Amino acid sequence: MRAWNVTGTTIESLQPVEVPEPAPGPAEVLVRIAAAALNYRDLAVLRGTYGSRTGAPYVPLSDGAGTVGTVGSAVRRVRPGDRVVLNYARDWIAGEPTEEALRPRLGMPLDGTLQEAMVLPEHAVVPLPDALPLEDAAVLPVAGTAAWHALFDFGRLQPGEQVVVQGTGGVSMLALQLATAARARVLVTTRSAAKAALAREHGADTVVVAGGPSWDAAVLEWTAGKGADLLLDVVGGDLSASLRATRFGGRVALIGFLASAEARFDLRFAIQRRLDLRGVSVGPRSSLEALVRAVAALRLRPFVSRTFSFEEAPAAFRALASGEHSGKLLIRF
Ligand SMILES: NC(=O)c1ccc[n+]([C@@H]2O[C@H](COP(=O)([O-])OP(=O)(O)OC[C@H]3O[C@@H](n4cnc5c(N)ncnc54)[C@H](OP(=O)(O)O)[C@@H]3O)[C@@H](O)[C@H]2O)c1
Repeated sequence: MRAWNVTGTTIESLQPVEVPEPAPGPAEVLVRIAAAALNYRDLAVLRGTYGSRTGAPYVPLSDGAGTVGTVGSAVRRVRPGDRVVLNYARDWIAGEPTEEALRPRLGMPLDGTLQEAMVLPEHAVVPLPDALPLEDAAVLPVAGTAAWHALFDFGRLQPGEQVVVQGTGGVSMLALQLATAARARVLVTTRSAAKAALAREHGADTVVVAGGPSWDAAVLEWTAGKGADLLLDVVGGDLSASLRATRFGGRVALIGFLASAEARFDLRFAIQRRLDLRGVSVGPRSSLEALVRAVAALRLRPFVSRTFSFEEAPAAFRALASGEHSGKLLIRF
């Protein structure tokens, strides 16, 4: 079968390889991948800026969906032919995770989804309802589960509340779609006037075209001076504007580090305003299951801005690196 290996720290180091198809053990399933999707993390892992990398070649990508092939003799959750999406944090099933349960993740340290078939423990797959196409499901595991966890598990989002999301990337577009479907009002910040229309089309109540230091003033105006109930920060770096844009006692989900992984803010501000800051590390399988159910029932279509073929994987990475995309980038097998 075909796979891609990352063999260095550049996109050019992606190599197509032929490898034998794996066979499942008793409690494992083989999944034939139909589509995979890219996340910012895939680039950070490849460049070696995400965390530990052993240096050995690995199969990249964390998102994927496909069809169950052969299954082990003890498998009970799925059958051959079932359509499934893969759980990125493979062993985090529900509730608060242990450190050990958060360690095995697809696309590093485990091999990822940019291969035609892979073997997983049966607990790592989530069956899909008929209403959810494989290509829509394939973009959900990382960005969608993180957005779900931030909005509903940590965020306890209520109808009518006001939410801020930053940019129009994978996490933020899915968060926009989900929060809008939950009858919350969403303000989107974007650095691009062209992408502002896209955010409005997908339900944004207000869009602030900003990269500058004063976007928080626009949030305060939108919330009659109070600040947002919940803010999803994917940018990192200087968090001062994000904290100023959040109401007294409000919630800030710390999700990403697009500008910088070093955070800066005035602790006195966070303390005096009793802000609830939470590091989000994707979410458990139970959140992915809830997300799958909601996306299918509400007939939401996750926004995919470009689709590539399996052979075009390096071009998909280049598109991610350019930052010109919106929503998700998909690879169709
Ligand atoms: N903690 C978790 O569980 C988790 C899960 C998924 C992702 N993440 C992290 O969340 C971040 C976003 O991931 P993603 O996959 O959604 O990324 P993405 O699809 O690449 O989207 C990033 C978007 O953010 C905006 N942006 C980029 N750089 C920016 C900057 N310096 N300042 C302000 N806005 C910027 C851009 O939108 P505009 O062009 O519209 O401005 C861009 O399209 C990454 O750091 C990723 O590692 C964390």
